[in-house]
Amino acid sequence: MSNKVYVPGDAAALSVGAESVSKAIAERAASLRRDVNIVRNGSRGMFWLEPMVEVDTPQGRVAYGPVSVESVPGLFEAGFLDGKAHALSLGPTEKIPYLRNQDRLTFARCGITDPLSLSDYVSHGGYRGLEKAMGMTGADIVEEVVKSGLRGRGGAGFPTGIKWRTVLQQSAGQKYIVCNADEGDSGTYADRMIMEGDPFVLIEGMTIASFAVGATQGYIYVRSEYPHAFRTLRRAIAIAYEKGYLGANVAGSGKKFDLEARLGAGAYICGEETSLLESLEGKRGQIRYKPPLPAIQGLFGKPTVINNVISLATAPVILDKGAKNYQDFGMGKSRGTLTIQLAGNVKRAELVEKAFGLTLREAIYDYGGGTASGRPLRAVQVGGPLGAYFPESYLDTPLDYESFAAKKGMLGHGGIVVFDDTVDLARQARFAMEFCAVESCGKCTPCRVGSTRGVEVIDRIVANQDRMRNLELLDELCDVMLDGSLCALGGLIPYPVQSAIRHFPEDFDKAAPDLGPDPLAGRARESQPWR
Ligand SMILES: Cc1cc2nc3c(=O)[nH]c(=O)nc-3n(C[C@H](O)[C@H](O)[C@H](O)COP(=O)(O)O)c2cc1C
Ligand code: SF4
Repeated sequence: MSNKVYVPGDAAALSVGAESVSKAIAERAASLRRDVNIVRNGSRGMFWLEPMVEVDTPQGRVAYGPVSVESVPGLFEAGFLDGKAHALSLGPTEKIPYLRNQDRLTFARCGITDPLSLSDYVSHGGYRGLEKAMGMTGADIVEEVVKSGLRGRGGAGFPTGIKWRTVLQQSAGQKYIVCNADEGDSGTYADRMIMEGDPFVLIEGMTIASFAVGATQGYIYVRSEYPHAFRTLRRAIAIAYEKGYLGANVAGSGKKFDLEARLGAGAYICGEETSLLESLEGKRGQIRYKPPLPAIQGLFGKPTVINNVISLATAPVILDKGAKNYQDFGMGKSRGTLTIQLAGNVKRAELVEKAFGLTLREAIYDYGGGTASGRPLRAVQVGGPLGAYFPESYLDTPLDYESFAAKKGMLGHGGIVVFDDTVDLARQARFAMEFCAVESCGKCTPCRVGSTRGVEVIDRIVANQDRMRNLELLDELCDVMLDGSLCALGGLIPYPVQSAIRHFPEDFDKAAPDLGPDPLAGRARESQPWR
């Protein structure tokens, strides 16, 4: 009898040796004449356990991890193919506490199915959402998404259904669905995990969106640093065409939807929706003025739904289980689940899908296990490079859009980066300004010039040159960037800078700090006079 063994093919698992582990298992099984069927699944999202190998047993799936090539012979000897005990045993996968205590709706299949098996997808509830959508009008689909309370997971938190309704209301011969898979925020990986671990859910979500608004063409704009996700998506799209889930007559509906994956241009600003559209049209990724909104004049000037991967990949579960079911998760105006991504100085880096409302402290300690260094936590940055730095005293803030906004922060894409007490917040503030200077598209003056001047002013503050006047100047500069920038790159950079000053003023009060190695070593170093 063949034993089914799951070895993740996810990029994070590959980076810690999953490919060699898979080969070692295949070779050992062959030498022992054991018949194994190795499935390259997605990751379950518990990265400290990767490569996490699972075996199918009559009692369900049993996990082992982190598995190394060296541990493979011992696992065979212990009888891991039958789920027997070994030092790396983690027990039944579904009972691992960090996984069990989650609300996996969007990630319901990730790590469970074979990402490129359409039959596996369908047998685990895939395409049930589309089936429902096929019996509804576009307007009804839109209203279901509006009622669910789903808000865009790309950062701005704009209601997805309202965006779809605007596109539906446009009369145009051609409309587009564009998926923003540029995932540029620091500490984020949820989009990548979906694309590598459950690509059909994204394809299904985009197809539902196309039926809702009357679009016939879709594009997925994939971050250029995601070669595995890009490859998996392209294969999944080819399979969906082959099986009639894409093309001229989607699932026998009589409706057309064509889909292509495109590789991004490799710039943070290409994640901003109008820059992304420029880039997709083959031009340099630079911001477009708004209005008109992309929903009215988007790709090639046509009405376009542009949504983040998670927003689109959540449409199937909303259609399948109903808006009310999704609404029942969450708090206040933040409905459904948030895909929290723990990163930085954290013991257990992990994807946690949980109803909005979990506190930062619960996410970092109950799931993440505190700092990896074991030193006291000092700061947390939520929402990517444009997110505010929160001090320890803010850890009881619930993870929901409004609670974060009330504290001058933002949830962004759900990335949480943890820092211990060795962090220098003056250096982090400088890094934010420098990041803005490097990544600025150059279209507006407050960001293009302001970010470079901002680096210089922070340098002067830290070097103790006329500190008070320069602190005032930095504050003024931040206000100008906040109010005068054309897009949120320049417009939100004041968040990390001003929060660092507000919560950690002592870090800006050192004559000559020991800054350690520079993360942007070599770049713009000449503008750091204290070095
Ligand atoms: C500088 C910048 C970078 C962005 N990067 C991304 C990104 O990588 N992925 C993403 O989904 N949204 C990103 N956004 C947000 C998009 O502009 C847009 O709001 C989002 O794609 C809309 O989808 P949603 O409504 O589903 O969130 C970025 C915005 C800015 C200002
Ligand atoms: S804020 Fe920066 S990235 Fe945005 S339009 Fe202005 S120059 Fe470009």
